[in-house]
Amino acid sequence: MSTLEQKVGQIREEAMNALLGADGMDRLNEIRVAYLGKKGTLTAVLKGMKDVTPEERPKVGKWVNDAREQIEGRIEEIRARLEEEKLEARLEAEAIDVTLPARKQKRGHRHPNTIALEEVERIFVGMGYEVVEGPEVEYDEYNFTKLNIPANHPAKDEQDTFYITDEILLRTQTSPVQARIMEQGKLPIRMIAPGRVFRSDEVDATHSPSFHQIEGLVIDRNITFSDLKGTLDLFAKELFGPDTKTKFRPHHFPFTEPSAEVDVSCFKCGGRGCRFCKGSGWIEILGCGMVHPHVLEMCGIDPEEYQGFAFGVGLERIALLKYEIDDMRLLYENDARFLQQF
Ligand code: DAH
Repeated sequence: MSTLEQKVGQIREEAMNALLGADGMDRLNEIRVAYLGKKGTLTAVLKGMKDVTPEERPKVGKWVNDAREQIEGRIEEIRARLEEEKLEARLEAEAIDVTLPARKQKRGHRHPNTIALEEVERIFVGMGYEVVEGPEVEYDEYNFTKLNIPANHPAKDEQDTFYITDEILLRTQTSPVQARIMEQGKLPIRMIAPGRVFRSDEVDATHSPSFHQIEGLVIDRNITFSDLKGTLDLFAKELFGPDTKTKFRPHHFPFTEPSAEVDVSCFKCGGRGCRFCKGSGWIEILGCGMVHPHVLEMCGIDPEEYQGFAFGVGLERIALLKYEIDDMRLLYENDARFLQQF
């Protein structure tokens, strides 16, 4: 046996031995390069052909090719096996156990303010009212003057106002939306205007510098105080239950005449008196009245031809009452443990 044939055999054995320990694609490639690559040991034999006699060359070529084929064959086998193992490992890792219980999706909850607002909107939309909005940054003129609250009027002090300039402020009430809608001159009007209002109040269980009101306004021919009473009585019954009674107490608001505050019979004790209604049997829920003729005039409506009523409800107050929450601060803290309950 020629030494060259032995050498090729040796290289093949070495390669095969090395392949026995090949446990990954990287190692497999290393071995391929070491033996079969351009600078590999087997390839080197071919490069030595120039020293071989022409008669011997075909034989040497055949030895080398046979060895190459064997090594390549083994490499291919191992590669296929490694691929298969990899696939199996992946299938195992990605297996889905369809018998596992599903993970619970956390769902958001509607804020009590939102629930209360949607309830109020549902009631008034059911009576044919439109829901409108006005700006939170408002002119003094709309927030006060056009509502019959002129400069130096004490009501301006009562509502501690955040002024931006002398004429521009954060609205202290949703009532300016009344003036804006009346000015548009499209009559009759049946609207509610929910929204955020601002007053420079200290935060406590019943106050916040930012809260929400819902304004109501009806303007038409032949509107009387009976319409106001009937509407708000129905509203109270829809909101707090059919047995709810209402009481209209005389009050004063600059933009309505006459004006009233409305109490509802305590829905906790039915009016007998309990801790909830502080023993009185009644709970105050809103302010209202017949739109002042001067307000109608300032907004371009002839008070001889048209009359109307208006009301203003505190949204937080409704939410606190309806859900028996005893501290308004809870509504603003966004504590998930609180919100979760709604
Ligand atoms: N704007 C009043 C307030 O913030 C509430 C109010 C009372 C609104 C009577 C009205 C109304 O429209 O007629 O205290």
